[in-house]
Amino acid sequence: MNKSTMPSLFVRYLDRWVFRRFGYTLRLLPHPTPPLEPWWTDREFLELWGHVADRTRVEPPSAYMLRQLVAHSRGLGGEIAEVGSYRGGSAYLLAVDGDRWVHVFDTFAGMPETDPRWDHFRQGDFGDTSLQEVRDFLAPLPHVTLYPGVFPDTAGPIGDKRFGLVHVDVDIHQSVLECCRFFYPRLVPGGILVFDDYGFPKCPGAKKAVDEFFLDLPETPLYTASGQAIVVRRPWMGLISTGSRDSDHGI
Ligand SMILES: C[S@@+](CC[C@H](N)C(=O)[O-])C[C@H]1O[C@@H](n2cnc3c(N)ncnc32)[C@H](O)[C@@H]1O
Repeated sequence: MNKSTMPSLFVRYLDRWVFRRFGYTLRLLPHPTPPLEPWWTDREFLELWGHVADRTRVEPPSAYMLRQLVAHSRGLGGEIAEVGSYRGGSAYLLAVDGDRWVHVFDTFAGMPETDPRWDHFRQGDFGDTSLQEVRDFLAPLPHVTLYPGVFPDTAGPIGDKRFGLVHVDVDIHQSVLECCRFFYPRLVPGGILVFDDYGFPKCPGAKKAVDEFFLDLPETPLYTASGQAIVVRRPWMGLISTGSRDSDHGI
């Protein structure tokens, strides 16, 4: 018996004499190589995740990516925004460091009108939340402002701001498109737009909106294994011109 057969003999023994006696069977899954699932092992993240898990629809890989993007965008300048906060879980992940202002947008009363051609969600979905509940949850964090209502109707107060990181988690076509139109021209050079629901089969309208918007722009959205899409604004676009291209895209 060489070393490489030992685990399988041991597993077979366990399977036959222990597991099967109780009506189970033991199968070892291949270990992923390399084991790149830090959202299950990173203690700092897990502590944070424990605090938000029951208040977010964002999955651990996406939440971990958000935390990385918060770190990555630090020092770029610009503030942070989120559209689509629901019960405040992902907003907490963006705001917990307290070093930048975080602008949080949602109706806090469920989905606005949706388009059955592209959206699987219906008006009123995600209605089991409230402005007060989210305000209470985020209250311990400094530098957070909540904007209740339908975006971009509520965007007036941030019209002259610039952003280093924007989390778009609105699931539906029109809302994603409005977020692109509003935030893309307001990203600082190197600023990041992250779309939570780009790869989700339940959100075909979200992917369509992102693909349409960036079709004739220099940035190609990066589709991540977490299902998100990430756009990093090219630094030189901001430096060369904010002229015709920006006016084509909402500013
Ligand atoms: C999937 S939930 C957001 C999940 C959240 N990020 C979390 O951590 O669980 C989608 C949210 O987008 C909001 N939403 C969609 N379109 C919107 C719009 N145009 N203005 C404001 N909120 C919108 C809905 O009200 C809903 O709460």
